[in-house]
Amino acid sequence: MRRMANGELPKIGILVGTHGRGSNMRALAQACASGSVPANVGVVVSPSEAAPAWTVAKELGLPTAVVDVSGPDAGERLIEAFRQADCSLVCLAGYMRLLPAEVLRAFPNRVLNIHPALLPKFGGKGMYGMRVHEAVLAAGESESGCTVHLVNERYDEGPIVLQLRCPVLPDDTPETLAARVLELEHRAYPEAVRRVLAGLHP
Ligand code: GRF
Repeated sequence: MRRMANGELPKIGILVGTHGRGSNMRALAQACASGSVPANVGVVVSPSEAAPAWTVAKELGLPTAVVDVSGPDAGERLIEAFRQADCSLVCLAGYMRLLPAEVLRAFPNRVLNIHPALLPKFGGKGMYGMRVHEAVLAAGESESGCTVHLVNERYDEGPIVLQLRCPVLPDDTPETLAARVLELEHRAYPEAVRRVLAGLHP
């Protein structure tokens, strides 16, 4: 287990979105609590107290912060929230906007995202939620899965850390496929964080 120079476990920051359920945040928090990811959740940052993921974070007893992610100072506010919580890694979990470039500069190669398909296919602007699974089915793919990747200035384009795959079944609907992929996401995200913290990536 890799500890910081002061002997403490590293801290991860989790940035959720307004509409996400918070299930990946929960999976990361549980992996930290069980010790399978050698880290602590430093802070869950949400754009709003109305976000469902915010309620989940509160139920789990996680440290939380609300940060206004609009306007020219959004990046500085996000950096401040993660630095105040001493985070060395930032995980996007249901955050749909492009991250301000200054956040990426403040945490170089230390911002991760999870996407519910096998990138580079079925990614990019507007490709989120059920649209992704609809597109996978419309394309007649025989498999799908999820991708954890480093975040850069473009949607869903950073280097891939980990992918997990599952079959697409003949009678799948977007909803059944989404549920199968979501189970993979909850395994993939903690494992990817573990690898990045262990220095295995990049
Ligand atoms: C997940 O499907 C993830 O891949 C995508 O947004 C969704 C968030 O879901 N980036 P949840 O809020 O973690 O349940």
